[in-house]
Amino acid sequence: MYPQRVLSGMRPTGVLHLGHYHGVLKNWVKLQSEYECLFFVADWHALTTHYDDPSVIRQSTWDMVIDWLAAGIDPSSATLFIQSRVPEHAELHLLLSMCTPLGWLERVPTYKDQQDKLNDKDLSTYGFLGYPLLQAADILIYRAGQVPVGEDQVPHVELTREIARRFNHLYGRETDFEEKAEESAKKLGGKRARLLLELRTRFQEQGDESALEQAKALLQESQNLTLDDRERLFGYLEGARRLILVEPQALLTEASRMPGLDGQKMSKSYNNTIGLREDPDVVAKKIRTMPTDPARIRRTDPGTPEKCPVWAFHQIYSDEQRQDWVQQGCRSAGIGCIECKQPVIDAVIAEQDIFRARAKPFEEDLDLVKNIVADGCEKARELARQTMRDVREVMGLDLG
Ligand code: TRP
Ligand code: SF4
Repeated sequence: MYPQRVLSGMRPTGVLHLGHYHGVLKNWVKLQSEYECLFFVADWHALTTHYDDPSVIRQSTWDMVIDWLAAGIDPSSATLFIQSRVPEHAELHLLLSMCTPLGWLERVPTYKDQQDKLNDKDLSTYGFLGYPLLQAADILIYRAGQVPVGEDQVPHVELTREIARRFNHLYGRETDFEEKAEESAKKLGGKRARLLLELRTRFQEQGDESALEQAKALLQESQNLTLDDRERLFGYLEGARRLILVEPQALLTEASRMPGLDGQKMSKSYNNTIGLREDPDVVAKKIRTMPTDPARIRRTDPGTPEKCPVWAFHQIYSDEQRQDWVQQGCRSAGIGCIECKQPVIDAVIAEQDIFRARAKPFEEDLDLVKNIVADGCEKARELARQTMRDVREVMGLDLG
């Protein structure tokens, strides 16, 4: 298990906007300095909903990676790759499909929701039903401990955990498992080995969860175990199983407070976005023409910031002092809306100046991006292969 490994993906279905930055990418940037991070372009996922319009994938993929780099993702610290370049994801998806009950997929909330919401598309496809399982394969193939996702994706991580559990239950049995586990335990040294067995018994006989936690901590901190030993012992604690696939945790990303130009959530489908690297003149114009509190018809009419989408921008882009200035000026009609918007325009453009500067070398030479991704694919593939060796073995596919 790699509790310090973080994996997340994003679908290439259009250009990224400030909502993606404040809702997702800023968090990825923070995580990359704390964890081993893998971030990927989920192009197969995009096909589950855009199979009739694949051109958007080709158009968005490189732009999306440039947006990531522009936002501050550092390829020397995080591994960036494209899902379809690591075909092991598909193999694991297929193998997991053998033992995934249909009902588990039909019950995933996004299945019905999205079918209703995207009703201009025919999503009664095999691929769309299986998409949470593909996501499970994405996660499990790296034995990732943490998966940063928004709230809507939490059920997918839950499903992933159930799939891992079921898989380990079905295929984690080894004939001489007990013996091997006891051998592995010996490597902890006499005293710790005894403590581990004691804790295991307490958990298995009395269901004492704190004993299990303590035992896991003991394994986590012991230095002289190989990865195999450790995994075997984790399985041994909870039963006589080997943990081939690891249950990940959802790392819930705080909901983005980034509103769109009209005050609704910023989203391509509402046509209220500001692109991550949008031209400064266009950005200025978009903000200048943003709707404001409708009560302020004339310059002399007082307003209520809470009823104005510009105020929502100030909450992200302005310090307390300027926020006070808005509150007072708006309520007393002391400032006009044009005046109120100017610091937002300046702040958004200043933030984007950094993005544009980071993106520039990549925009000028796409090969730089392609090389970063090629390296990332290779690294990811090596990790994926390790898991697939174990999976093939336990599923009877390693005939040698
Ligand atoms: N399904 C995710 C989304 O729509 C993208 C995704 C695919 C993903 N595979 C993943 C996210 C694995 C986290 C982990 O946003
Ligand atoms: Fe909105 Fe600012 Fe105008 Fe008040 S003054 S309505 S907060 S733009």
